[in-house]
Amino acid sequence: MTQKTTLTTSALPPKPDGSEESAFRQLTPEGRLAHLGAIIEFSNDAIFSVTLDGKILSWNAGAERIYGYTAEEMVGNRVSAFVPQDRRNELDRVIQQLREGENPASFETRRVRKDGRVIHVYLTVSPVRDSEGALIGTSTIARDISERKTAEQALRKKQQELEDFFENSVLGLHWVGPDGRIIWANRAEMQSLGYSACEYIGHHIAEFHADPDVIQDILARLARNEKLHSYEARLKCKDGSLRHVLISSSVLWDDDKFIHTRCFTLDITERRRTEQALRRAEKMAATGRLAATVAHEINNPLEAVTNLLYLAKTAPTVANTKECLEQAQAELKRISHLTKQTLGFFKDSTAPSKIDLSNLVREVIRLYQSKINSKGLTVKSQLEPSLVLGSEGELRQVVSNLLTNAVESSRDGRTIRVRVHAHHELVRLTVADQGSGIMAGNIDRIYEPFFTTKENVGTGLGLWVTREIVDKHGGKIQLRTSVQPGRSGTAFSILLPSAS
Ligand SMILES: Nc1ncnc2c1ncn2[C@@H]1O[C@H](COP(=O)(O)OP(=O)(O)O)[C@@H](O)[C@H]1O
Ligand SMILES: [Mg+2]
Repeated sequence: MTQKTTLTTSALPPKPDGSEESAFRQLTPEGRLAHLGAIIEFSNDAIFSVTLDGKILSWNAGAERIYGYTAEEMVGNRVSAFVPQDRRNELDRVIQQLREGENPASFETRRVRKDGRVIHVYLTVSPVRDSEGALIGTSTIARDISERKTAEQALRKKQQELEDFFENSVLGLHWVGPDGRIIWANRAEMQSLGYSACEYIGHHIAEFHADPDVIQDILARLARNEKLHSYEARLKCKDGSLRHVLISSSVLWDDDKFIHTRCFTLDITERRRTEQALRRAEKMAATGRLAATVAHEINNPLEAVTNLLYLAKTAPTVANTKECLEQAQAELKRISHLTKQTLGFFKDSTAPSKIDLSNLVREVIRLYQSKINSKGLTVKSQLEPSLVLGSEGELRQVVSNLLTNAVESSRDGRTIRVRVHAHHELVRLTVADQGSGIMAGNIDRIYEPFFTTKENVGTGLGLWVTREIVDKHGGKIQLRTSVQPGRSGTAFSILLPSAS
């Protein structure tokens, strides 16, 4: 800035009312000018003054830094040097405004530095008037806002990307306000349900749920600041059909204020359908295999019975006949055992009753006692009276299956522990053996029908049937097993709801 400048600018603050004698006011006019000059010179902003016809009169260090031109280059030069072509009339407009007595004009615009780089600047252009008040030029304060602009642009781009992502996501997405109304939803969600934006947005979310208690629960949980992960729900489509979805949702809070929920819906209707079809196909295949096994197993003793009956009819002595009939009877017993084992539980249609599981276990152990003894095994039982609600025949099957598996896996001299006890509304039955254990690779397969590691003797139906029965009784099966030599063994636990 040249020291000759004697301009007064109306952008200066109004003079103090004189009640306070400031140090500034005590300065000589030259001193004040030097003081103001120093403020301008050391300002970080570009500060320069221009005549009405566009000639630059002063140019501070901030201007040198921001625009890249020195004061020597610029003073006496024209502002058009750094104003881009398409921004030229901007200045005419500002001067027009100032002429009409308007206040300093502030606006964002672009300028070109000496090195050709385009920068974003924030300008405040103030009028410079002579002692009569006539406009004789302008003074400009310019701040380089390029960095802020770049950051803003990056932010806008990010925001745009995010919006695109949500809008075009294959996941359904919606926001629900504190009053339960949908305030935003993406295309995927409205498309999958068949609604237009005005049929969906603004409506209460409960209108689209098939199960009122489900949505009530969802909203209540969210209001308590719980996060929902894969919560199953059914949504109503416009055409009246239902879609199965998994909802994951949380609330956006601002301090304690509920702003809105953010809710992702994953449509699993198709997955559900395929799973069901697969299950049905698997069941059909299993039934077919079951029928084939049963037919095969029954066929052998049946053939034997046929032969034995023929032999009995043609036997030379009564004693021979009797012997044949006895053998036939034994074969028939095998058939009967087999059918009972495989099909027995399906036919048990007696109404469920309260059963003391400990009593039932005691009876089953008694039934198998001779088999246990013949293998040199010991059964240690700890049986507390524990009532469960269920079918006696079916539960007997469960206990028999677990016990026979334990016996079959155990070698001479081992102990099998059986325990029944009630704990926290549940009755737990545990059958633990010191047998071979189950190899890791087989654990996932033991409940499959026909999966057996007992060649020739196993049917592979025991655990399958067991699981079906336990499921039906609202129970759970737990398993611990180890194949580590010296410490091997398996413990099956059945947890059933207590009926006491
Ligand atoms: N207590 C156990 N110890 C070791 N393996 C077991 C035990 N219980 C079940 N298994 C394994 O699970 C398989 C399936 O059992 P199950 O369905 O009862 O059929 P099965 O006894 O006819 O083989 C068995 O063949 C065996 O490999
Ligand atoms: Mg078995």
